[in-house]
Amino acid sequence: MEYLAYGDTGLEISRLCYGAGRLKDTCDSYEAGSKLMLKALEEGVTFWDTAEGYGTQPHLGEAIRQIDREEVVIQTKTPAKDYDGASASITKALRELRTDYIDVMLLHAVSSPEDLVMREGALDAFREAKAAGKIRVIGCSTHVYTGPVMDAVIDHPEIEVILTTANKEGRMLEGGSIDRHLEYIQRAYNAGKGISIMKVVVAGNISETDMPEWIAWGFNLETAHAINLGMTDDRHITLDAGLARASARQRLIQRKAA
Ligand SMILES: NC(=O)c1ccc[n+]([C@@H]2O[C@H](COP(=O)([O-])OP(=O)(O)OC[C@H]3O[C@@H](n4cnc5c(N)ncnc54)[C@H](OP(=O)(O)O)[C@@H]3O)[C@@H](O)[C@H]2O)c1
Repeated sequence: MEYLAYGDTGLEISRLCYGAGRLKDTCDSYEAGSKLMLKALEEGVTFWDTAEGYGTQPHLGEAIRQIDREEVVIQTKTPAKDYDGASASITKALRELRTDYIDVMLLHAVSSPEDLVMREGALDAFREAKAAGKIRVIGCSTHVYTGPVMDAVIDHPEIEVILTTANKEGRMLEGGSIDRHLEYIQRAYNAGKGISIMKVVVAGNISETDMPEWIAWGFNLETAHAINLGMTDDRHITLDAGLARASARQRLIQRKAA
């Protein structure tokens, strides 16, 4: 597995990120979810993504309970816009994740510059939690949106991490083309933001045969620090970790040849 700096955040992450968005639907217990997380950790996946809204923080918490907390980087999210809501989300996340700090806390699915402004109260709660050592890094996800929202989040000095949609055909992306979106990602990367991409396999809406090609596209995008894949079984973990390793090897060979 390849490990790299998550932009200028000071965190080191695995290139493959475990997207725990669907564990609640696919695992019948927290224990079953934690087994998948631990299997991924065996494959070297140390970067785990969840959200209050997925209901999977407890699955991660069950896994975290069984390992050394420092082994993994945890990213979670809150939909809250105001101070009280975000403070409550942070308290809940710490409890469910069974930890005393969250590596990355995101504003979940910011859709426009106006939406970002409306979340100032939530950012206040993030700032306070960061000062208290409960959060290490602040960021946002932009869900499927591009265009002005990307300008707003890239220009915001306190947004250190951006989780955004990207795949080889720009499927699900709203508000602009994939080529223009990749320019935004490049700009954010150059500004030192940590970049994670999702919807790399269009939330599963491509054929099984095409999966490796779409996933490899994600790993070959050098402006993405992390490729967030919503793995739901052992087979996905083995395939995706193998593709992560193959892409890292390929780029190493190319660098040596250059
Ligand atoms: N706004 C936001 O911040 C936001 C929104 C959505 C997602 N996310 C995050 O991003 C993660 C990924 O979500 P996504 O919507 O982008 O989904 P995705 O990774 O594009 O698709 C995941 C789905 O693809 C199918 N699949 C088939 N082969 C796979 C393979 N080798 N590896 C992984 N998946 C495979 C699985 O469905 P089957 O089980 O049906 O085969 C799986 O549920 C989520 O888990 C979540 O952590 C964030």
